[in-house]
Amino acid sequence: MQITFLSFDGTSYTVDADEGMTAMEAAINNGIDGIEGDCGGNCNCATCHVFVDPKWSEQVGEASPMEEALLASRSDLAENSRLACQIDLVPELDGLVLQMPESQF
Ligand code: FES
Repeated sequence: MQITFLSFDGTSYTVDADEGMTAMEAAINNGIDGIEGDCGGNCNCATCHVFVDPKWSEQVGEASPMEEALLASRSDLAENSRLACQIDLVPELDGLVLQMPESQF
């Protein structure tokens, strides 16, 4: 499956990902600059913040209460904010588009 990460300046990076990994892992494994993932995917750092492309919001679904609490620490929080480590790559998300914020810090 493939996922596309859009950088803040609009550059598009489409990467191959395996079903079962998270969107954060797909970014890290492919050296995407713009996703940090400092806590290793434990929903504890908020450096894997992404904005879900509106066309994909329904398939991606809502953040859990724990994720929401962590997202609230982001000054660039938006309605379509999610943490990439909390997006499990199920087959239905093949082609997913995620926008990255200007900075993860
Ligand atoms: Fe730390 Fe996602 S990698 S919250």
